[in-house]
Amino acid sequence: MTAARNLLTFVSSAVRSPGVIGAVAPSGRALSDLLASVAPAHGPATVVELGPGTGVVSEALRRHLSPEARHVAVELDRSMVALLRRSLPWLEVVPGDAKDLQKLLADIGITTVDAIVSGLPWTLFSREAQCAIMEQVNRVLVPGGVFTTFAYAHVKNLPTQRRFRDLLEQSFDEVAVTPVVWRNFPPAIAYQCRNT
Ligand SMILES: C[S@@+](CC[C@H](N)C(=O)[O-])C[C@H]1O[C@@H](n2cnc3c(N)ncnc32)[C@H](O)[C@@H]1O
Repeated sequence: MTAARNLLTFVSSAVRSPGVIGAVAPSGRALSDLLASVAPAHGPATVVELGPGTGVVSEALRRHLSPEARHVAVELDRSMVALLRRSLPWLEVVPGDAKDLQKLLADIGITTVDAIVSGLPWTLFSREAQCAIMEQVNRVLVPGGVFTTFAYAHVKNLPTQRRFRDLLEQSFDEVAVTPVVWRNFPPAIAYQCRNT
């Protein structure tokens, strides 16, 4: 019942704001676990999720992180914020736009983070918006911290996706691309990025 309600919220938001949601369904468990896997599994790490949607990746992070970790989720869509607050009461949900990340985190006492897990629909953003959010990511991420995000495999060679990949290469010392996660609809890859 909860899964059906979450899917309904996701689809309603996707129909209402296709340029904000950018997907037809939430990520599956295999992709969610892959995204969460790069975050530190031990100790009091600070981990930020961008665009948690209905919280499938949030749940994967909850399974992966130590209980001492601080897990914050920044979400723009008001219906998703309400759903997350109702269904995942343990999650620290911050309503807002990822382009204001540094300020949103400063407001809750966070200046640096160890990992950023993004569910944002990067290819729907203008080049300026992509650069603005990436700059915020780099401002708050600790040296050696990790940034991960995903893209659908069938669009990975389109110009918009190549442009985003170039931005990742410019923003990080290391950009690894995972094999395709076939058990996802649609199949997807993840980028795992670090600065040394
Ligand atoms: C493709 S959905 C991903 C949801 C979830 N992480 C998943 O993998 O199923 C994209 C999410 O990013 C949110 N979003 C889009 N633009 C955003 C922004 N500028 N700041 C914060 N969240 C944003 C949308 O509202 C939506 O919840």
